[in-house]
Amino acid sequence: MGYVRETLVTTKNRDQSIKVSPLGVYIDNKILKLKPFKPSKSLENIIRNGSGVINYVDDVRIFASCITNRKIQINFEKVSKIDCSRIKNAISHTEFIVKDIQDHNERPTIVCNPINEETHKMFYGFNRAKSAIIELCILVSRLGIIEDNKIKNEIEYLKIAIEKTAGQNEYEAWYWLIEHIKNYKEDLIKNV
Ligand SMILES: Cc1cc2nc3c(=O)[nH]c(=O)nc-3n(C[C@H](O)[C@H](O)[C@H](O)COP(=O)(O)O)c2cc1C
Repeated sequence: MGYVRETLVTTKNRDQSIKVSPLGVYIDNKILKLKPFKPSKSLENIIRNGSGVINYVDDVRIFASCITNRKIQINFEKVSKIDCSRIKNAISHTEFIVKDIQDHNERPTIVCNPINEETHKMFYGFNRAKSAIIELCILVSRLGIIEDNKIKNEIEYLKIAIEKTAGQNEYEAWYWLIEHIKNYKEDLIKNV
């Protein structure tokens, strides 16, 4: 049975800067696959470079900043086996080279060959607020596609996990996402 890890993929742009994008990694019989929708800068970079880095990150502000186009300082560190960088405060990372690309009009599949994996710090367990932020990021990335009423109800539900278990980072990410939704449609967010 396949499953998905929610990660941040770093790739090298033409100008040598680093692109960070939230992307699901599909685990299919231990094989890693990325499925970026077209158009995607990450897809372009991965095809051009033939490689990239999957970052496993618990600082959910990075997910929220990408999805809301908010500029925050993200520190990087060069990885050892490919010409790219990882997110410095990632818990761990996988460097991959492209094994195969199954092209598709909307959503190609990139089959990744992991060539190096490293752990950088402790994983301190699950946190409901972090999961809630990931869920809200997904909702924000689908504004205008998902029905407004569903978004309103989901926010009410996700707020419970935030109020019970969030730390400073999660509150900050929540605020950015709610502001973003407010800018999209004020009345989705009454009393949040
Ligand atoms: C948790 C999470 C998982 C995501 N997974 C995917 C994915 O698997 N494929 C995709 O195309 N977009 C995914 N997105 C949305 C992308 O991050 C977004 O479309 C992004 O702009 C990709 O384009 P880029 O490579 O130009 O940054 C995800 C977003 C979040 C918050």
